[in-house]
Amino acid sequence: MVKKAIVLCAGKGTRLRPLTFTTAKHLIPIANRPILFYSLENIARAGIEEVGIVVSPYNAEEFRKVVGDNPFGLKITYIVQEEPKGLAHAVWVSRDFLGDEDFMMYLGDNLILEDLRKFVEDFERSDYAASILLSPVKDPTRFGVAVMEGDRVVKVVEKPKVPPSNLAIVGLYLFRNRIFEGIENIKPSWRGELEITDAIEYLIEKGEKVKGYIIYGWWKDTGKPDDLLEANRKILMGTNEEILGEVDDKTTIQGAVMIGKNSRVVNSLIRGPVVIGENCLIKDTYVGPYTSIGNNVILESCEIENSIVMDSCSIVGIEKRIDSSILGKGVSVRSSARRPATLSLILGDMSRVEF
Ligand code: DAU
Repeated sequence: MVKKAIVLCAGKGTRLRPLTFTTAKHLIPIANRPILFYSLENIARAGIEEVGIVVSPYNAEEFRKVVGDNPFGLKITYIVQEEPKGLAHAVWVSRDFLGDEDFMMYLGDNLILEDLRKFVEDFERSDYAASILLSPVKDPTRFGVAVMEGDRVVKVVEKPKVPPSNLAIVGLYLFRNRIFEGIENIKPSWRGELEITDAIEYLIEKGEKVKGYIIYGWWKDTGKPDDLLEANRKILMGTNEEILGEVDDKTTIQGAVMIGKNSRVVNSLIRGPVVIGENCLIKDTYVGPYTSIGNNVILESCEIENSIVMDSCSIVGIEKRIDSSILGKGVSVRSSARRPATLSLILGDMSRVEF
């Protein structure tokens, strides 16, 4: 039985800066919930009981605070990986936690909504050394790629220049303890990392059986801002209507909209799917489809859609519609009547503004 999982959340998230200067990419909210929570919930549903979250020394505290010890009934252990030296290295530093049990490895930046129970049960019944989740993709060079014969994987290669197939390795693996033999026998790759793909290839070359489990549903490696917006759209599609806040009679609500406690909507149009957190004020505003608004947000005289607005932001008096945008915590965007009519910007490192 597979009762343990490790979820890999070390690594720097450089492509999501400046958001990742203050928040680990796995904890960025999608539909007002950290990305990682969707994965943990799915892992718990698959029958896993204990999870080791692999974190960096500098984000360990944030994970402890946000995730805690017992989300979704899972027993959480935090495992610090001093440096992100590769996925196989992350497994290696988890060896005391894993003991000699079979285990699941989940890449914390992957959002996989697929039901994982069959994948796990199928592995439990088999004598495979590993089972890996695969999915056909258009751009296999960005991923680990697998070659299959029947349902067996006969070759895996990490980010090949000339891909031998279109089957990408999705960030979810099931391993028997024999994977440690592979890890002990590999060298760092061209990118200086100990690749789990190489450890799997080692087992295959030794004659071990590795199963490929192909999924055709939606999943996402949430490495870039556009990926976050796509994941946000996908999750918001499942929004249920729930209005706990106060909506005045000059406001129109269309479609699936959630409005949290103590939020007030005045003279506005909210067109779902939209999620609005608690203690927000939305006034004289249009909030369009696929928008997530955190807690304590003020939106006044503005238009916004297909965006993520995190806690404590304010957007006031902006004439152009804001679209496909991600605002970190406490961001303020407002127009000013002062002359000369200049743009006044105080932007953190690596911020992006498009007019
Ligand atoms: O997204 C699927 C791909 O993930 C697979 O197709 C590849 O075969 C696999 O190697 C991996 O490639 P990436 O280059 O996307 O991995 P990345 O460096 O983004 O790391 C994935 C997660 O693991 C991320 O949440 C950070 C964490 N991590 C990464 C490293 C290198 C660790 O916890 N420790 C590490 O040392």
